[in-house]
Amino acid sequence: MDYLSISGPARLKGEITISGAKNAALPLIAATLLSDEPCSLENVPNVADIHTLLKLLGKLGGKFIFEDHTLSIDNEAIDNTVATYDIVKTMRASILVLGPLLARFGRCEVSLPGGCAIGQRPIDLHLKALEQMGARIEIKNGYVVATAPDGLRGTRIIFDKVTVTGSENIIMAAALAKGKTELINVAKEPEVVQLCEVLSEAGVKIEGVGSDELIVHGTDREPLKLKPFSIIPDRIEAGTYLCAAAITYSNVTLHNVRADHLDAVTAKLHEAGCRIENGVGSMTIYPAARLKAFEISTTEYPGFPTDMQAQFMALATQAEGVSIIEERLFENRFMHVSELQRLGASIHLKGHTATLNGPIQLLGADVMATDLRASSALVLAGLAASGTTNVHRIYHLDRGYEALHEKLKALGADIKRLKE
Ligand code: EPZ
Repeated sequence: MDYLSISGPARLKGEITISGAKNAALPLIAATLLSDEPCSLENVPNVADIHTLLKLLGKLGGKFIFEDHTLSIDNEAIDNTVATYDIVKTMRASILVLGPLLARFGRCEVSLPGGCAIGQRPIDLHLKALEQMGARIEIKNGYVVATAPDGLRGTRIIFDKVTVTGSENIIMAAALAKGKTELINVAKEPEVVQLCEVLSEAGVKIEGVGSDELIVHGTDREPLKLKPFSIIPDRIEAGTYLCAAAITYSNVTLHNVRADHLDAVTAKLHEAGCRIENGVGSMTIYPAARLKAFEISTTEYPGFPTDMQAQFMALATQAEGVSIIEERLFENRFMHVSELQRLGASIHLKGHTATLNGPIQLLGADVMATDLRASSALVLAGLAASGTTNVHRIYHLDRGYEALHEKLKALGADIKRLKE
């Protein structure tokens, strides 16, 4: 296994380019199952989760070529609708093949994804909605066995909770259903919006795109013709690098970003004392004179994203005063706390709320990544800490950050990727 060795405190400078959004590419790759013709996706991030979903697609009989961030997919010859445990257990977003496979083929088996480090991550809302659309859902030997021999039918669905992949699964299922499906309390994340835009371009009439209420007019199992499209920039990767600049008091420019997808993050960085200027497809951050403490409560888009909570907790260790961070979406998304404490952070946990006193001079140490975003928080803390910080188990990072240590090195960080 590899680990990252970071020497701090670092000062960063310069410009980097943000990759395509993993959480947009995953549902869009699943959406190609709704088509029986070749599809082309641009700006696809070269990260482990994408390769995992492509491995699953290959096992289903799909064909693909992934070169230089361009992905060509042909699912004309899909001859298997079983998504097996060995792949699904490594990436729970594999559940995104459930809706499209059921809608196109009338039957599929998808391994239950199971929980992960940050929480139990149920899929009850995905399954309940598919049943409302006429599917028969059984759980057998750890698999969801879904059948809809006469296809899915449009209906009115209210999501009890806002669920990103739940919304995406049902939007894809509704695209091939018979009649119209009304979806209430749908996630509004930019990744959900891009999925709707791509399906609309392919001839699926969708009303209310960008709002929390959609009406999807299905094609009654007529396969889609997806037009070529480019994946939106990764707002969480961009937010992570903005935090890297903020925590090291650096001036950095990011290219290929959608500033309008980062309003809640930008507002919080302003509160902490940073200044951000938006260019055409770019953002430049200017450091705070002294970082100020802030309060965060994670919530659904367009509120403050849970995927940025760990990174801001690292930042809070350098902010003057008492910062309060409440995690409202996941029951166990504080795995980074004990690792940050190893670096010297002063963090008090009570239920779903972390209270931090700062600023604290962090001291380099060996730390262990536990999940994707927690890993990036440890890298940020390592950039601020005095001495050497070794971040172990960085396969977590590889799931969602393309060329992270190369990008940080390009900004002047003293960071090396070494073998254990
Ligand atoms: C997506 O996960 C993202 N993953 C996550 O990003 C992100 O943290 C999360 O949305 C929240 O924004 C992808 O898009 C691939 P949810 P998802 O369903 O869809 C509960 C990353 O770092 N819930 O919106 O699995 C659930 O337990 C990853 O890139 C149910 O109760 O999250 C949670 O409390 C981590 N029943 C809340 O809803 C369900 O059927 C939100 O979960 C579904 C969800």
